[in-house]
Formats: sequence, structure tokens, C-alpha cells
Amino acid sequence: MILQKKEDAEAIRQAAEIIKEGGVVAFPTETVYGLGADALNPLAVARIFEIKNRPFFDPLIVHIADLDEMSRLAVEIPPNGERLVKRCWPGPLTIVVFKKEEVPDLVTAGLPTVAIRMPKHPMALRLIREAGCPIAAPSANPFGYVSPTTADHVREQLGNRVDLILDGGPCEVGVESTILSFSEERPRLLRPGGLTLEEIESVIGKVEMGPAQEEKPSSPGRLPKHYAPRTPIVIDEWKNDFEAYRDKEIGLLAFHEASVSFPFRHVEVLSSAGDLREAAANLFAAIRRLDALNLDLILAESVPETGLGRAIMDRLRRASKK
Ligand code: TXA
Ligand code: MG
Repeated sequence: MILQKKEDAEAIRQAAEIIKEGGVVAFPTETVYGLGADALNPLAVARIFEIKNRPFFDPLIVHIADLDEMSRLAVEIPPNGERLVKRCWPGPLTIVVFKKEEVPDLVTAGLPTVAIRMPKHPMALRLIREAGCPIAAPSANPFGYVSPTTADHVREQLGNRVDLILDGGPCEVGVESTILSFSEERPRLLRPGGLTLEEIESVIGKVEMGPAQEEKPSSPGRLPKHYAPRTPIVIDEWKNDFEAYRDKEIGLLAFHEASVSFPFRHVEVLSSAGDLREAAANLFAAIRRLDALNLDLILAESVPETGLGRAIMDRLRRASKK
């Protein structure tokens, strides 16, 4: 059964009931829509992997609604991690810390660590509280595809496979959470996202960048090709060789204005004001609209790599990998 409901107490109660019974619910967060199940029920979690077609080596983020729930999942949180979450939760930040036994191996893909986040969307918080359990949730898209930022995006791709979709409107942030690992001596940025590096470093000082050397290369949010539409995307380099595209059906993904004139089939401007926050919020929906036109190619312009521009460029680069 599929139900898609606007915010109301009855819809959330029903969604919470489904989670308690081991079902799978798509729900809004401030970043992107998640596909959630009881994080402590391995059978329920297995259904998430099935629905998404997600390989089991890709661990999930566990969502909580209250800081106390950390102690059920994590062995220990280092002091700077605690300082950061007290300042930035609820919000688009995921921390990776050593896990407790109780967290199923399926959730963490056998890793000794677990990724935890407290989302900011009021429907997500209410759902977690009413379900009475932490909720494991990846983004609610088929594996490797662009993340959903509206309930309709979820319905279009997974509508007949989930038990219920909660509709909380378009996501405010629009790119996934920033992932920061506290499993080593110094905190390490594993994925740029909705909380900017500048904000993080203003609270806890310098962090290391990117996955550690010894890490398995297989942590998929960081697979080179990910977050990808069907249509090939080319970033910037097309500007040097425009003639090559003359006889093709081309769409443009521009940052604040269409800086070139060309008979584009369609142009998406991420933020006419040149605002990175607005651009991030529009990014995935714009890519989806372009992807729906069956174009030969999407030409994209880069954005400045500061603040949310880091997350935008990270997603664009992965989406453009062949
Ligand atoms: O904003 C978000 O983070 C959204 C919403 C729904 O909360 N979720 C999301 O989940 O983006 P997902 O599964 O699409 O991306 C989670 C990423 C994956 O790349 C996974 O490899 C990484 O988190 N991850 C999860 N647990 C980890 C761990 N223990 N160590 C390192 N990376 C981990
Ligand atoms: Mg994802």
C-alpha cells in the first residue's frame, strides 16, 4: 500500500506504526528524502537495501531525535564531536563514531563504526520519536541515482516499493548531510554536504580532508560515479570546444545566469542571485528536470568552491563521471 500524506498527526502515527512493525517509510529531512526502517531490526534494514538495490557493503546513516539516544549506539563521543553536535544538531551533519554491539552489522556494513545524525525536519523528528527507535535511512533513490528532494521524486522512482511516503514539502537544504569521522586521532571530512566546512572548523578547528589512506575504496557515497542522472554531464570543459556540440540536443545547468548563447533545449539556472544556498536547494530537482528531457548531454557550469559550493561541486563531479 502506498500513501502519500501532507503533515498531519495521523500520517506520522501511521508511519511510526509501520516502522515499529518492520516496514519501510520514505520521509522528509532538511537535506533529502530518506528511506527509513528500524535501525535495530536487521530484517527491516535488509528491505531498505532490497528496495534501493543497494550493495550491502554500503553502510547506512542512523537517525536520532534526541542526544540521549547516542549512548545506545555509540561507544564514546570525543569531546570535540560532542561540542559540534551540541552546536549543529538538529542539522545537516553526520558523525562517524565507534559503534556499540547492539547496532546490527548490516547497518554499518560490518564496520566497527556507525554514522549518526539528527535531522532538522520536524516530521522526521516526530517520526523518530513516535517510532521509539533510531531510524536507519539512506537517501530514498535507486542506488547511484540523484537523491530525491520532494515526495514526488520518491513516488516516481520507488512509489510502488515502499509502505508509505510522508510528504513534508521540498527539502530546504537540498544536498545530503556533511559526514565527519571521529574514528581517528583527528576529525576527517568524508563527504562535503549541507553543513559547511567553514562552520565546522569555526567550532572544532582544522579537520582532515577526504577518506583515510588505509580505508576500503568502496564506501559508495564516495564512489567516483554516484548521484548520477542517465544523461551524461560535462562540467566547464565544454566552454573551450563549443562547436563540437552543434548538432546535439543539449541542456544547460547554469549557476546564476546562462553565460553563453546557444540553442539549448532547456536551461536550468540554480540561483539567479548567485546564492550557493539557493543553488544547493535547487540542484537535484534541476538535474532531474534536465534528465527527463532525454537530451544527448547536459553541460554544467562550476560554482565557487566555498561554503555549500563544495557539496555542489562534489555532487556534480560524481554525476559527471563516466
Ligand atoms: O543527508 C543525508 O545524509 C541523507 C538523509 C536521508 O539523512 N542520507 C544519506 O544517506 O545521504 P546515504 O546512504 O545516501 O549516504 C550515506 C553515506 C554513504 O556514502 C555511506 O558510505 C556513508 O554515509 N557511511 C555510512 N556509515 C558509515 C561509516 N560507518 N563510515 C563511513 N561512512 C559511512
Ligand atoms: Mg544516497
